[in-house]
Amino acid sequence: MKTLLLILAALLALPVLADDGDHYYSTSNLHPDRRLDLWQKECGSCHMAYPPGLLPAAAWRKMMSRLDKHFGADASLSANEQGELTDFLVKHAGSARRVGSEVIRITETPHFVKEHRKIAESVWERASIKSAANCQACHLRAAEGDFSERQIRIPR
Ligand code: HEC
Ligand code: HEC
Repeated sequence: MKTLLLILAALLALPVLADDGDHYYSTSNLHPDRRLDLWQKECGSCHMAYPPGLLPAAAWRKMMSRLDKHFGADASLSANEQGELTDFLVKHAGSARRVGSEVIRITETPHFVKEHRKIAESVWERASIKSAANCQACHLRAAEGDFSERQIRIPR
């Protein structure tokens, strides 16, 4: 009976583990292939390559269909590459339930807003941070998709 309870407890703990910041978005367990390389190269040249789990599939589709007008930048790709990367992002996208609505800014998803509600406006504006989209200013291992609390240092 005791073992049964232990197994039950372990099973119940599983979703909690899966919800941990460093597991859910992790990019280190993505299958290393051509698409992963392409994503890191093309989507990591102007800013860090944002882990696909940060937005739901619908948001990635919307963003990828308008790369010529990408937040004021032109990030267009060949039709082939655009297709490959859309598949890649959609395949590894976050669940809409977890990351929220279909806004295409990660920093505007309800999930992001909730996790960062305690950070004062003046902090975002520091020269060492500049933009909320500059994840790696505070999350030391953001590029690997590790947003866990022990990997956070807010710069002065
Ligand atoms: C030519 C430069 C450039 C390239 C290439 C580029 N981006 Fe961006 N991206 C930007 C700029 C500029 C912003 C706005 C940053 C800000 O507001 O601080 C942005 C913002 C974003 C955001 C929103 C961040 C937020 O505010 O939450 C996402 C998501 C994103 N890019 C994904 C991608 C993906 C996926 C690719 C590859 C297909 C890509 N980007 C390629 C320039 C680029
Ligand atoms: C100004 C520094 C700063 C920036 C920039 C920043 N964050 Fe955070 N983030 C934090 C802090 C601090 C926390 C912890 C909040 C708390 O626990 O009260 C956090 C929490 C998180 C969490 C939750 C972690 C967990 O274990 O539950 C995620 C996910 C996250 N951030 C993603 C991002 C992403 C993605 C970006 C960029 C688009 C970003 N953050 C930009 C400071 C920052």
